[in-house]
Order: sequence, then structure tokens, then C-alpha cells
Amino acid sequence: MTRIDRLARRIARAGRIAVLTGAGVSVESGIPPFRGRGGLWERFDPMEYATIGAFLNDPGKVWRVMLGELNGLIMRARPGAGHIGLAKLEALGKSVTVITQNVDGLHQQAGSSAVIELHGTFARLRCLNCGAVSATAATDLGILPPRCPCGGILRPACIFFGEEILPSDLLRSRQASAGCDLMLVIGTSANVHPAALMPLVAKQAGAAVVEINPEPTALTGRISDELLCGKAGEVMPPLLAAVQATLTDFGRGA
Ligand code: OAD
Repeated sequence: MTRIDRLARRIARAGRIAVLTGAGVSVESGIPPFRGRGGLWERFDPMEYATIGAFLNDPGKVWRVMLGELNGLIMRARPGAGHIGLAKLEALGKSVTVITQNVDGLHQQAGSSAVIELHGTFARLRCLNCGAVSATAATDLGILPPRCPCGGILRPACIFFGEEILPSDLLRSRQASAGCDLMLVIGTSANVHPAALMPLVAKQAGAAVVEINPEPTALTGRISDELLCGKAGEVMPPLLAAVQATLTDFGRGA
């Protein structure tokens, strides 16, 4: 039996599946990761562009140098085979909760219905002055930083370094992790907490933890039971086909 077939059986048998995703799942959609070669942190110093202090100090600079470009990439991106595969698992009747560190909304676009955006979203902007929330797609980003009708500067509704994750998102993520039989960890280097703690929570609660990533991560050989080495877009389609075949076999009583 291949490793894909073995994982497909685990998925088919699992009652509840939690999935932790990171930037890697969106790489094939044209959004670069943060770390490693070609990563955003190679071009932008996170201390200068990704902390809340840096943003509040000079929102125009952070918008012009990094956020404007990131928004363009997100607007053009379409779900890839990784996102689509997870949505299909749900369509096959599996209970799937996606905990994502990504702010691109691609899991929802693909059709996943239970998505926790641990690091917030780029789809909405919030006024630093009056707190009004608006859709990014409906906002004029021609002049940066964008402004609210009240004159205040708009910030994306994502979490900058130095900001707290929403307690309700953290609670739901911990619940999904502690309550799953299987956790898939796709496309994250697992360097940023508390997201990277979710596989540990799952493991401690007795779940199997399986990574899909072209490279080993901070979890490999320590927390995860297995690493399926490959891109999400390469691993997910054959995995889905194998899950579908396994579920059909189970249905026949095989
Ligand atoms: P990283 O950039 O740290 O890691 C991306 C991971 O994706 C790496 O392990 C890659 O090997 C893997 N990868 C690359 N291409 C892939 C592909 N096609 N399929 C599957 N995996 C692939 O991104 P994250 O772990 O998401 O936070 O980073 C976590 C957080 O750090 C981000 O949410 C962001 C960042 O700083 C904030 O900004 C708050």
C-alpha cells in the first residue's frame, strides 16, 4: 500500500479532521511564502513591515512597499489544488475544520465552509479612527494608504506581529485541534505560535498528525507522525482520488 493510500484510509476512517494550513498551500496560486528562497521576508524585513508598531509608525510606507503588492497578488489568486482538495473532502461528507494562517480567503473561495482565519483576513479593512469595516475589493487603493470616508487611515483586518489573535479564533482552533482524530498540516513551516501549537494539541489529544510539505518542518520527526513530501498541488489530487475510492470500498463493505 502506498503512503497516499494509507493516508486515504486514515482520512476515510476519521470522524473529525482538522487541517492547519500556511502560506505553502497558496504558493501554487501565485502568493509567495514568507520564509525560505523567494519568500516575502527575503525582500521585506518583518520588523520594518509586519509589526503593528511599524504599521502605526508609518502606515503609508507599509501600504506602499508591501501591503499594496500583497493585495494585488491576493486579488489575482484563485484556489489551487490544495484548497480545492480540502473543499472536496468536505463535499465527500467528511467533517473538516480548516485552521489557516493565510489571509487570502482562498479556502472559502474553494468551498470550505468551516475556516478559522487565525491571522485574520485581507478581505476587509478597518478604520484606525472610527473603526468602520469595509470590503477591500470595494475600496479605492489608488492612493496609499487608503482612507475611510471619515478621513482615518484604513488597515487590513489581519494580525500584525505584536497583536493578539482573537480569543474566539484561538478557542475554536484549540477545540478543533483537541477534538479531531486526524490533523493534516499543509504548507506551513510551523515557526509561528500559537498556530504551530495546534498540531501539538491534536497530538496530545491522541490524533494522528500528517504533514504535506515539500520540505521537513519544525514538526517533522517530533510532533508529526508522517511527512508526505511534495507540493500541495501534487499530493492533494491523488490523495482525493484515493479517499474517494476508499469511501466507495467502505460503502460496498470492503
Ligand atoms: P512559511 O513561509 O514560514 O512556510 C511556508 C511553508 O510552505 C514551508 O514549510 C514550505 O516548505 C512550504 N511550501 C512551499 N511551497 C509549497 C507547496 N507548493 N505546497 C505545500 N507546501 C509548500 O509560511 P507560514 O508557515 O504560513 O504571520 O508562516 C506562518 C506565519 O508567518 C504567517 O502567517 C505570517 C508569517 O510571518 C504573520 O504575518 C502574523
